[in-house]
This record gives sequence, structure tokens and C-alpha cells, in this order.
Amino acid sequence: MSLPENIHTEFHRFLLADEKSRLLGQRGVVAWMIGLSGSGKSTVAAAVERALHAEGRFTVILDGDNLRSGLNRNLGFTDDDRRENIRRTAEVARLFASQGVITLVSLITPREEFRAMARDIVGEAYAEIYVRAPYEVCAARDPKGLYQKAASGGIANFTGRDSGFEEPAEPNLVLDTAAESVAECAARLVALLRERFTLPAE
Ligand code: ADX
Repeated sequence: MSLPENIHTEFHRFLLADEKSRLLGQRGVVAWMIGLSGSGKSTVAAAVERALHAEGRFTVILDGDNLRSGLNRNLGFTDDDRRENIRRTAEVARLFASQGVITLVSLITPREEFRAMARDIVGEAYAEIYVRAPYEVCAARDPKGLYQKAASGGIANFTGRDSGFEEPAEPNLVLDTAAESVAECAARLVALLRERFTLPAE
């Protein structure tokens, strides 16, 4: 998209991503974690963050519910609002990654179209992580009571019920939270991230 009139970007005067990366000793990456509500995205993200923090890595979590309480609080769950929710979050993730930060995004991101947009905005730092759990498993967990509410017709456009969730065609990693423990899932994601955030030895 072309720039709006009267906007003059200043990127050339600021430090480059490489310089930030060297300071932090890591390359900026984005783990874009997708999956149904209650599939375990935030739980795995939290475990990954703790593991990386313990070894001196700098991380940020961009969590759908948290962002919807601030930056994205004017958005709901129609496809148009989800698209805007995902667009804004992808732009924020891109900013963090460009500053050398290991960025964990936890957003349902229910459609391939939305994932393609996120991948486009984030660029080569993007890795797609499918946190997979069947609808029935998420409904049985129901940590926020939303599945029960949706079952009695109390939530419009609920993902997996009256709003679709498309299976991702080419995720970089699939975490089966119904079959694997949180620790196993976190370890597999840390391994994928480590390959990407590790700088070449000087
Ligand atoms: S996304 O589709 O735009 O990627 P996002 O991850 O930000 O969704 O928000 C999902 C969270 O919002 C869920 O974890 C749940 O707590 C809450 N939520 C409220 N209403 C809905 C709904 N209709 N569908 C899905 N999640 C909902």
C-alpha cells in the first residue's frame, strides 16, 4: 500500500535491526501461534517465555485477549474486525522483531487469508505455530466459560461454532496439546525458535 500523503518516514536515521540484534545477542523472530480458544496458545507461550527468560533471552508476548483490552478494544469478532485485529497485531509484532525481540503472538487467526496477511506484514521473521486441539477438547477445558456460554447462544460469531476455523495448510510447527504436555510443546517451540534467533558465531 502506498504511503498516505504528508507522511515522511524516518527509518534511515534510526539504528538498524542488526545493531539492536547484536546488543541483545539474538535475532528478532515472531512465533505466530494460531488455534481455537482454549487450545493452549497462551499457556504454551507463557511456558516458552519463562524458559527463554531463564536463559537470558528477551521476549514479548502479544496475546489476543490482552490486546483486545487496550490497542484493539474497539474491535469485535466479525471477519472484518478480526482482520483489523490481526493486521494491527502483525504490525506490532513486526516492530518488536525489527528491534531484535523474540515475539510470541497468541491469536486465534482463524482464516488462511488472515495468516497470509500476517506473514506478509511480518516478513521473514514469521513462523506459524498451530496449537491444535479438537473443539470438544477445548469445550471440555473451557477455562473462560466461553464454550458453555456459546452453547446456550450467548456469544455471536464464536470460533469453531458459528464462525469457522480453517486448518492451516503449511504451519512451521504443530503442537498437539491434547496429546502432548505443556512442557513438551514448549520445548519443541523453543527448539524451533532457537534455530531462528541464534546469531552466527563471530
Ligand atoms: S482473532 O480471531 O481475532 O484472532 P483473538 O485471538 O484476538 O481472535 O481473540 C480470541 C479471544 O477472545 C478468545 O480467546 C476468547 O477469550 C475471546 N472471545 C470472545 N468472543 C469470542 C468469539 N466470538 N470467538 C472467539 N473468541 C472470542
